[in-house]
Amino acid sequence: MARNQVRQLRGWATVGMLVSVLLLSLRSSGQRAEPSPAPFGGPLPGVTAQEFERFRVGLEDFLEVEESEEGLGPVFNGRSCAECHSIPAVGGGGTVLEMRAGRRNPDGTFDPLPGGSVFQLFSIPPHTCQERIPPEANVVAPRKSIPLFGAGLVEAIPDEALAALADPDDRDGDGVSGRVHWVMDRGTGTARAGRFGWKAQQATLLSFGAEAYLEEMGITNELFPRENAPNGDEERLLRCLPLRAVRHIEDVADRFTGLRGIDNFEAFLRFLGPPPRGESTDLARRGERLFAEIQCAACHVPVLLTGPSSNPVFDRRLVQLYSDLLLHDIGTGDGIVQGDAPGEEIRTPALWGLRVRRGLLHDGSAATLTEAILRHDQEAAEARRLFQTLPAGEVVALLAFLDSL
Ligand code: HEC
Ligand code: HEC
Repeated sequence: MARNQVRQLRGWATVGMLVSVLLLSLRSSGQRAEPSPAPFGGPLPGVTAQEFERFRVGLEDFLEVEESEEGLGPVFNGRSCAECHSIPAVGGGGTVLEMRAGRRNPDGTFDPLPGGSVFQLFSIPPHTCQERIPPEANVVAPRKSIPLFGAGLVEAIPDEALAALADPDDRDGDGVSGRVHWVMDRGTGTARAGRFGWKAQQATLLSFGAEAYLEEMGITNELFPRENAPNGDEERLLRCLPLRAVRHIEDVADRFTGLRGIDNFEAFLRFLGPPPRGESTDLARRGERLFAEIQCAACHVPVLLTGPSSNPVFDRRLVQLYSDLLLHDIGTGDGIVQGDAPGEEIRTPALWGLRVRRGLLHDGSAATLTEAILRHDQEAAEARRLFQTLPAGEVVALLAFLDSL
């Protein structure tokens, strides 16, 4: 698969450059055009040859299967990023369910338990370093991976755009109260509007990739320099790894390029194209109108705009993601408190690329679109009620629309 993708990339490089040339000529004649979409897993249309090269090198790192000599473990969930992000192409979603757990105390506070709320599925060496969910955990929550197509465009949406959509105290009285998850971004050291992850727990691709490198694969890096000790037990960590390995940072800059693995992940994700839209039929267009009428668009906001950027591929672009990237309580919360995100709240998932997703909701617990919609409650109770009043023909149209995304 990897080799095929590399071959396909050469094709995209040519297409990408042709599109850039075409766009440049359009721009110089004063016209604007949205470039045609990339196929699933292709680069953002319009990237320069240099950006394409960063994307290609990033893809290689994203596909690379790590071994313990390269820093994998001692506790980990997967051996490569692509292992959980490959449906329907590298950079997509996956079916692996990760485990989070913790303890809800009688006073309502949440304790992630020693070692944090992620319980890694594997370890090296096995047995001595294996994490286990302790008996005192009373919240156990599986989580699905999230497709990464178009992540660079999502990153380029300004914080203010998300803040403008938020209505934490429901002042407009529509029953929907989205909230920005403000986070301290490790990459820049500033407070930013979180947008990535089921709890909107990260604001930038550098920080998300760096955290994933540690939490998913056990590879320490400059943003997350400390090894994860199994169940937070530092003594057990020393039985799993030599002290030298515990102390040194595993992801170091390449001698020739000066780039770290986390920089390469960032480049791959930043230049990964958005999912191509499916066929738009009359039925799907009718469904799209219904989607707005029955208030789905209150949270699944059809389009957001990137901010001004010196890079034309990110400069004031329409991002048709169908999400407000805010936290909402729709009655599906996993009970895990993460940063300032409460247990009941989940970030509105983007619906672009929905037609190729399998297993819906954060834990994959809904098998069909209808099931996912019927699980909407609380802030989305009115939208669900309106869905339930739709005549059968209109339900078909709404589902056709969702299947065209
Ligand atoms: C074992 C499976 C697994 C592996 C390996 C993995 N991920 Fe993920 N990824 C997930 C899951 C699960 C989520 C959702 C996590 C959450 O919100 O708690 C996720 C979410 C993400 C997101 C957020 C996307 C969004 O739009 O919200 C990014 C970015 C990401 N992963 C990048 C990476 C990178 C880079 C690597 C390799 C260093 C990687 N992942 C390895 C499972 C995995
Ligand atoms: C109040 C905000 C809100 C409204 C209104 C809302 N949604 Fe959602 N939607 C969410 C959130 C939050 C989730 C994620 C829940 C989870 O994973 O636990 C979600 C999940 C989904 C999913 C699953 C996506 C995936 O990747 O698993 C679909 C499909 C969906 N919504 C469609 C709709 C439709 C159709 C409507 C209108 C009937 C609607 N939503 C109204 C917030 C909302």
